Amino acid sequence: MAELETKRLVLRPFVDGDAEDVYAYAKDSRVGPAAGWPPHTSVENSLEIIRTVFSAPNVFALVDRESGKVIGSAGFVGRHRTELPGPDDELGYALSPEFWGRGLMSEAARKLIRFGFEDLGLHTIWCNHYEGNERSRRVIAACGFHYRFSQEEAVELMRERRMTHYYAQSREDWAARQAVRG
Ligand SMILES: CC(C)(COP(=O)(O)OP(=O)(O)OC[C@H]1O[C@@H](n2cnc3c(N)ncnc32)[C@H](O)[C@@H]1OP(=O)(O)O)[C@@H](O)C(=O)NCCC(=O)NCCS
Repeated sequence: MAELETKRLVLRPFVDGDAEDVYAYAKDSRVGPAAGWPPHTSVENSLEIIRTVFSAPNVFALVDRESGKVIGSAGFVGRHRTELPGPDDELGYALSPEFWGRGLMSEAARKLIRFGFEDLGLHTIWCNHYEGNERSRRVIAACGFHYRFSQEEAVELMRERRMTHYYAQSREDWAARQAVRG
C-alpha cells in the first residue's frame, strides 16, 4: 500500500506495534463516539481494531513527523453510494484531541482526496458527519465538499439513531479548484 507525506504528517499502513499509540487517543471519549464507535477499552482492543478495521486497503495511520507517534487514522472506508457517479468511496477520519485545531486533519484529507482521484481513480468522494459534529463539518467544508443530503441512520456500534449529513465532491470539482489555485 502507498505511503503518503504532507508537511507535518506521514500517512502509512497501520502495524500491530501501533496499538499503544492508538489506545492513547482512542480511549478518549471525545474521539470515537463523535464518529460512531465506542472508546477503546484496552491496548488489546486497539490491536483488534488495527487488525480488523484499520487493515482495510487505503486506511492510513497518521504519524506526527515531530514525535514519530501515531496520532490518528484517515482513509477510504470502502462504503459506496449510488446517488452520484462512481467509482466512489467515503473518507473517514479521527485525530487525537491533543492535536485538534491545528489544521492537521484538513492537511491529511487534502492529500487523501488527491490520492483518491489521481491514484485510486475515483470519480466521487463522499464524506459525512453526525448532527452536532462541528469540527468534522469544518474539515469537510475546508476540503471542498458540497452538501448533498441528510438522513437519520442507525449507528450500530453506539446503539442509537442519529441525523447524518452527507457531502461529496467529484473529480471535476476537485480538478477545477486545483486549476484556480495554480
Ligand atoms: C473531526 C476532527 C478530525 C477535526 O479535527 P480538527 O483538529 O478540528 O481539524 P483540523 O485539523 O482540520 O483543524 C481545523 C481547524 O484548525 C484551525 N487551524 C489551526 N492551524 C491551522 C492550519 N495550519 N491550517 C488549517 N487550519 C488550521 C483552523 O482554524 C480550523 O478551524 P476552522 O476551519 O474553523 O477555521 C477531530 O475533531 C476528531 O478526531 N473528532 C473525533 C472523531 C470524529 O469526529 N471524526 C469524524 C467523523 S465524521
